[in-house]
Amino acid sequence: MYTNEGKLNFPKDFLWGGATAANQCEGAWDEDGKGMTIEDCLEFRAGNISDMGKQFAFSSKNLEMAQTENDINYPKRRGIDFYHHYKEDIALFAQMGFKVYRMSICWSRIYTNPEDKVPNEKGIEFYLNVLKELKKYDIEPLVTLSHYDVPVALINKYRGWYGRECIDLFIKYARTCFEHFGKYVKYWLTFNEVDAMLRHPVTSGGLIEDQFDDVPFEQAMYQAMHHQMVASALAVKIGHEICPDSQIGCMMTKLCFYPFTCKPEDNLATQQRMRSVYRCVDIQVFGEYPIYLKKEIDNKGFEVHFEKDDEEILKEGTVDFVSFSYYMTSCWAASTEGLELSPGNTFNGVKNPYLPSSEWGWQTDASGLRYSLVELYDRFRKPLFIVENGLGARDVVSEDGKVHDPYREDYLKEHVCAMSDAINLDGVNLIGYTWWGCIDLISESTREMSKRYGFIYVDIDDYGNGTYNRIKKDSFEFYKKVIASNGTEL
Ligand code: BG6
Repeated sequence: MYTNEGKLNFPKDFLWGGATAANQCEGAWDEDGKGMTIEDCLEFRAGNISDMGKQFAFSSKNLEMAQTENDINYPKRRGIDFYHHYKEDIALFAQMGFKVYRMSICWSRIYTNPEDKVPNEKGIEFYLNVLKELKKYDIEPLVTLSHYDVPVALINKYRGWYGRECIDLFIKYARTCFEHFGKYVKYWLTFNEVDAMLRHPVTSGGLIEDQFDDVPFEQAMYQAMHHQMVASALAVKIGHEICPDSQIGCMMTKLCFYPFTCKPEDNLATQQRMRSVYRCVDIQVFGEYPIYLKKEIDNKGFEVHFEKDDEEILKEGTVDFVSFSYYMTSCWAASTEGLELSPGNTFNGVKNPYLPSSEWGWQTDASGLRYSLVELYDRFRKPLFIVENGLGARDVVSEDGKVHDPYREDYLKEHVCAMSDAINLDGVNLIGYTWWGCIDLISESTREMSKRYGFIYVDIDDYGNGTYNRIKKDSFEFYKKVIASNGTEL
């Protein structure tokens, strides 16, 4: 259990709030001109938990079936119906005292088909309504332009982000967002967990392995990653031009591996593994490929094609701040043979005997958050923003009609202590914190509803049965108190 070593203290303008993503909460997947995305094609399979390989296994056959099948097995299509409940949900966020709300815009709502010449009016209207609602309560939006919802049209035509065409189409979309929403939005993120292309290319980039027999699949992943790097840099550049007061950040998965033993070879293997965590953000912050990434690509015998202006574009589009998701830590070793592995949402690590595990096997570790904050600040020297942190649990509605979730309060408490210490003892410039899934939503990795993160319970099950009513959990009042006291009353 992490207890604060220093005094609890946060900057007076610290941005407390919550986070969601369009594909996990909006639902209304084919309403008002929304086009289909890869997320609408991901099935829920009962019992399918915590096995990274199976979770993201996806073939052309799956894509074909998803384009003809009914809705039952595709939970992202219904989400929690935020599309029709946003007023009620935002009012609840306001009651908790949110200063910031992280949301994402779905590309396929703005352009039904990314190649359309004109944007979809209804899509623009929906997000304007959401932003106006937030403004009503003085909640600052933090908007992600792309949170894992690659338009299916791009997969069908270009094999997802492998196709360089995606860059221009994305920039057209980003420009539309900056022009229409810039008046309401100061904080933007380009790609969610941008490093994930090399872990789960299906959701990050729309790359389906069986479609690549002309190029090694891994090489295609690096190429797609490069295209997102260029697109992100261009989006930062035009975002700054269109909205001069904006702050545009990158977003990484802050994985954290400790060496399993103090054997030098375990330490070395861990250092290598940690580099894979940083490769994209190193580009987005420093404006160029780090040497180790160039070596990594060379050593694999791959080639990543750069167009003539790409290096210049990367230089000109560096980010204003670094944001990240942080849930857990695990260990790594030179050889994992015979060692017990622990699952994460998108990777496996070696199980740490000193840490507790969540019901999904994620090893929770508040000290690891402080460790990560120090590591990130020392490396990047940019303001940091924790845009995802939280605990997925199997909450139940008790006989008294309430949801008692003391485990969530404990998790939050420990992580707030760790943040405070990182700020006050370690000198980290941390500007905000958005709890992931502030309202229950569909899990990204397992597509189930049973894994709940929220302070607000949503009454639906894995198959979409239920009233969709919202119930405040005990942690709702707890977080409200944390925010009201600016993190000093836990
Ligand atoms: C992050 C994603 O990796 O983890 C979110 O950005 C996701 O979209 C979150 O929901 C938690 O993962 P999961 O699989 O429990 O939903």
